[in-house]
Amino acid sequence: MEEKIENIKKLAIAEIENSSNEKELNDAKIKYLGKKGELTACLRGMGSLTPEERPVIGNLVNIVKNKLEEMIEKKEEEYRKLELDRKLREETIDITLPSTKIKRGSKHPLNRIIEEVEDLFVSMGYDVVTGPELETDEYCFERLNLPKGHPARDMQDSFYITSEYLLRTQTSAVQARAMMENEEKSPIRIICPGKTYRRDDDATHSHQFSQVEGLVIDKDISLADLKGTLEVFVRKMLGDNLQLRFRPSYFPFTEPSYEVDVSCFKCEGKGCSLCKQTGWIEVLGSGIVHPNVLKMNGYDPEKYSGFAFGTGLDRLAMFKYGITDIRLLYKNDVRFLKQFDRCDR
Ligand code: DAH
Repeated sequence: MEEKIENIKKLAIAEIENSSNEKELNDAKIKYLGKKGELTACLRGMGSLTPEERPVIGNLVNIVKNKLEEMIEKKEEEYRKLELDRKLREETIDITLPSTKIKRGSKHPLNRIIEEVEDLFVSMGYDVVTGPELETDEYCFERLNLPKGHPARDMQDSFYITSEYLLRTQTSAVQARAMMENEEKSPIRIICPGKTYRRDDDATHSHQFSQVEGLVIDKDISLADLKGTLEVFVRKMLGDNLQLRFRPSYFPFTEPSYEVDVSCFKCEGKGCSLCKQTGWIEVLGSGIVHPNVLKMNGYDPEKYSGFAFGTGLDRLAMFKYGITDIRLLYKNDVRFLKQFDRCDR
């Protein structure tokens, strides 16, 4: 029996060592150590041995078994490594190959301005609201105290689609919508950025342009609130040390109304080509919400008051980035737009 086991051991060792792949190794494993394997058979045949022989043979079989298992494990490890090396070699990527260039877009200067304005007002507790660009005469004009035939309509040369529908000429239309949609007639604090349209086309006017409207309605709102808010707004957008000048003006939806000028940020008020030697640049329209507008949109002017303002975002972008032709903002010329990449760095 001992001889037989020694024999099996020799053969098994030779087969394990001579195996040239995982499959052959596995075959050898099954052949000698499997359930029906040769070494396992020796253990089964122990019944025919004398009680003295049994522990000796049992021990021998176990020693051989351990030895073979150890060898197999080592070999398996070797094959695993070889397989891994093969895979790594096969899947190697040549990182010296030039990559395909992905062209990165850049944020449009107008979107930069809009995001900046939104961030500022949201930080002051305002909601950002939008409205339709195809607007009704009712919301664009009538509910803003501009009845049909009102001469102030002439300032806004409009694209009418039908006699009732037009491309909105001002984001002020969203004011009326916000008031009408507020069923509880509770306080309002919103800004409304968006596209607007008028029949204009020159270096400083485009038929499509962008405005942002602001509206606050609450109890005891005064001109001081408007002034403080606009100071924060203008200084954040155009420069810390700017002075504001409120010039009495006329808008049908506000009373009193003001045009707001800022001291010229280029020449600091001394007079230059940008401010046409006046030292001031007009940036905003604003005022205290007209009682008629409150009334028409469901708010009691005895209880509530409010302020509103509106400004052209294109103008802000032009001032901020030194752009001299508004049409550049709408041409989508990559050579122009790419210059704003730098603003991200
Ligand atoms: N909607 C005006 C325009 O397009 C701008 C404006 C002026 C808006 C005064 C306002 C305001 O809210 O109070 O010229």
